[in-house]
Amino acid sequence: MTKYRVAVLASGDGTNLQALIDGIHCRGLAELVVTASDNEKARALARADAAGIPALALPPQAGEGRRAYHRRLAGAVKAFRPDLVVLAGYMRLLPPDFVAAMPPIINVHPSLLPAFPGLDAPGQAIAHGVKVTGCTVHLVDEGMDTGPILIQLALAIQPGESAESLHSRIKILEHQALVRAVAAFAQGRVGIREGIVCIKEDSRDED
Ligand code: GRF
Repeated sequence: MTKYRVAVLASGDGTNLQALIDGIHCRGLAELVVTASDNEKARALARADAAGIPALALPPQAGEGRRAYHRRLAGAVKAFRPDLVVLAGYMRLLPPDFVAAMPPIINVHPSLLPAFPGLDAPGQAIAHGVKVTGCTVHLVDEGMDTGPILIQLALAIQPGESAESLHSRIKILEHQALVRAVAAFAQGRVGIREGIVCIKEDSRDED
């Protein structure tokens, strides 16, 4: 059987990419066919390279607008024929024509959406004084951190906790949620009706 093909976009450290390399690619649940980054220094690219996954550094060129850049990025990513695109810490807002040109795109975000979209979600949660936060994996639409929710995992904020500490604890949850979401797509267990996502249980998890 041909393997489900996953493209990853990442701008930074790439710990979410690493979770997908370890939890999806190396376990044969799907194939990570390419990692592309707008940041040529992103550690994510080195992680992909070390795993034998094509790593594309595609920084925007001087004077290249957001739409033109993303047309170029879309062309490069589509050449790898992905079934799914994962935003694993990709820090640019995608223009609508990129979203329309791609297979399903999913994103991981460090808050319980729709609370605290945008930058520094852990800092926003602390500033707001919420007691519980977490991470969300969602389908990407034309908005920022909007789109139907696939998986959420929650944790309690410790009294006096810093945004850095909270973010690193949330990232542990992100890694679990992202692997579960990609496995569900690869195994055809994701259904969506009227904007609400339903993920069927993995029967192999049953006793
Ligand atoms: C994650 O917290 C993700 O939710 C956010 O950026 C961070 C990326 O972390 N959008 P990493 O590069 O995967 O380590």
